[in-house]
Parts: sequence; structure tokens; C-alpha cells
Amino acid sequence: MPKLIYLVVGARPNFMKIAPLIKEFKKEKINFKLIHTGQHYDYNMSKVFFDDLGIPEPDIHLNIGSASHAVQTAKILIEFEKVLVREKVSLVVVVGDVNSTLACALVAKKLHIKVAHIEAGLRSFNMEMPEEINRLLTDQISDFLFTTEKSAVINLKREGISSDKIFFVGNIMIDVLIMNLEKAKELNLLDKYELKKNKYALITLHRPSNVDKKEDLKKMLNIIKFLQEKVKVFFPIHPRTKKNLELFDLEKDIENMNLYLTKPIGYLEFLNLMMNSKLILTDSGGIQEEASFLKIPVLTARKETERPITIDEGTNTIIGNDIIKAKRYIQEIFSNNYKKGKDIEKWDGQTAKRIVRIIKENLNI
Ligand code: UD1
Repeated sequence: MPKLIYLVVGARPNFMKIAPLIKEFKKEKINFKLIHTGQHYDYNMSKVFFDDLGIPEPDIHLNIGSASHAVQTAKILIEFEKVLVREKVSLVVVVGDVNSTLACALVAKKLHIKVAHIEAGLRSFNMEMPEEINRLLTDQISDFLFTTEKSAVINLKREGISSDKIFFVGNIMIDVLIMNLEKAKELNLLDKYELKKNKYALITLHRPSNVDKKEDLKKMLNIIKFLQEKVKVFFPIHPRTKKNLELFDLEKDIENMNLYLTKPIGYLEFLNLMMNSKLILTDSGGIQEEASFLKIPVLTARKETERPITIDEGTNTIIGNDIIKAKRYIQEIFSNNYKKGKDIEKWDGQTAKRIVRIIKENLNI
């Protein structure tokens, strides 16, 4: 029997990271199954990415859905264990930092199955972020730690992870971006959304630290208010953010803004809108990387980033929810004095190939 590998996805930022790996696994005729935990389940948060990226239907769907952290994680633990004991699996591959990542890594490790973590070693050093806890714990129990940037290698070594488990392979998100660049370019979205190239800003916001408390969300709306006075703003809104705008009765604050508000959009549409935008304001992790690769200015509405290379070499600047900083950098961008960004090491479209080579060598496939 050929060795069997499980690939796990759960939430939106996982889907693009698994697509290039599936392509490479198919090319190399590696026996795998795709497991979707169902942490994200709406069409716009999940299925559209499968369609856009040509990801096959999951072989196994755990249908977990939304719940508190404890309940969501616990449900994944229970359901994934039931699946994993049914057949002999040689490796479980998890990606990113969501609850599904940690839960599935934990189940596999306790069943003595090897775990590979793609995007290991990133650290915000902010233990109030659920993702930071997921990252730290997943890395401690992983057997293969695939990193996107050198800072991650340093973090892992500092945490006592032995060097022979750490592989600096580059950024798999950039693989999928490069694979889809031409397709995304062909979409004519500027007409659809009444936008002009380089004459709009793109926003995404969903972190609990920005949207779960009324005062925090109001601070973000203040920044958006300043931005929309300068330029039209396109804002595909995350379900968490939408829910909270309604809950805090803040919808009226954005009603009259120079804003195109829409439901979350697919991968190809978002890529097209990123590359044609003047600037991006976000609290996402992945978008800091994608914008840096595309050399589009990106202002990150967080206190810190776990992806410091995007600041040192990319186009990213941390502004938190500070309106003074926001104004300063927005003005810099509009006067074309903002940093331009450089090419980043191993963000070259070859990461999935490097990962597959390492997996094959180590598992004797
Ligand atoms: C999760 C990840 C975060 C990632 C983000 C991308 C964790 C801890 N967080 O945060 O790292 O950046 O996904 O989106 O894993 N909801 C829907 N439909 C869906 C999914 C969610 O309506 O398909 C709503 C639910 O009401 C839910 C809320 O959004 O309560 C939040 O979803 P959840 O998966 O808990 O966390 P995210 O904020 O999406």
C-alpha cells in the first residue's frame, strides 16, 4: 500500500495554502486525502475558494461550524480522531494558525502520527491573539516545520526546536498567487464595482482585537472615515465584522461614506482588486504578504506582526488603530513617498515543490 497523507484545511486562509500542495502531490502521484473541518462553511468563506483554486471536493468533511474557541476546538478533536483511527496515515499536514490547525495536529500527534506544519515559527509575541496560541502549540508537537521567512527559523530555535526539523522553504501563499496572477488579471472588476485603477483603497477587518469591542471598532471606522475622504474605499466585509457593526449599532456611521461595501469575495476577485489598488488597509496576516509580493502599500491595523519581513523588505507598515499614524502613512502613499519594497527570499512560486521533496525524502515515498 502506498503511504497515505492527510491534508487538513478548516478556515478561509487555509484554502489557498493547500492548493499548490495538492497540485504537487498529484504531479508526484502521492496518495493523499483532503480533510475539511468545516470551521468556515459559508459559500463566500469556503466553497468559492475551492472553485477559484480548483481544489477537489474534500474526501472527508467534519462539518464543525462556528462556536466558542473551546467548543470549536473540542468538536474538531473529537471528530478528527474518529476519522484518523479508521486507516493508517503516515503524515498529517496542517497549515497556518487557525483552531483547526492546532486541533488536528494534537489529535495526530497523540495517535503517534507525524505532523507537518506549513507556515511554522511565525510569532506576534502577543498571547491575546488566539492564533499565537495555536502557532506556539502546533509547532511544539510538529515533526516537520516549514517556514516562510528567516525570523521564523530563529523563533523556533529559541523555543528549543531542533534544527533538523526546521526547513526554510519559502511562502506557499506566493505559489498560489503566482499560479493565479494571469487569471486574476483577466477579470474586469473595475467596471463591475465602479472603480478606477490606483484610485481606490481596499480594506479587510476581522480580528477580534479590532471588531469585537465597540470602542475598537469605532477607532477603525475613524481611520476609514479619513481614508474615504481621499479615495473610494472597497470593503468586503467579514461575517464577524458585519455582525458586530449591527450589534453595536454602527452601521449608520458608514452609511454615507465613499464606500463600496460587499460580502466577502473569492480569491481571484480579491487578487485582482489588490493588484489594482492604491493601498490596502488590513488586519489579516496573509494580505501583508500578498501585498508585499505585489508591491502594493499595505497598512496593518494591528499592534505587531508575526511577519516582520513584510516590514523590513516588503511594503507593510504597522499602524495599529492610531489615526495619527494612519494619516501620516496615507499621506505618504498619496504623495508617492512611501517605501517601494524588494523581492523576498524564496517567495518565488517554488515552495510546494521544496516541501514535497522534503516529505518524499523523509517518508521514503
Ligand atoms: C478565523 C481564524 C483567523 C483567520 C480567520 C479568517 C481562528 C482562531 N481564527 O477567524 O485566524 O484569520 O478565520 O477568516 O481560527 N462565520 C460565518 N460564516 C463562516 C465562518 C464564520 O458566518 O463561514 C461567522 C460566525 O458567526 C463566527 C464568526 O464568523 O462566529 C467568526 O468565525 P471563526 O471561525 O470563529 O473566526 P474568524 O473570526 O473567522
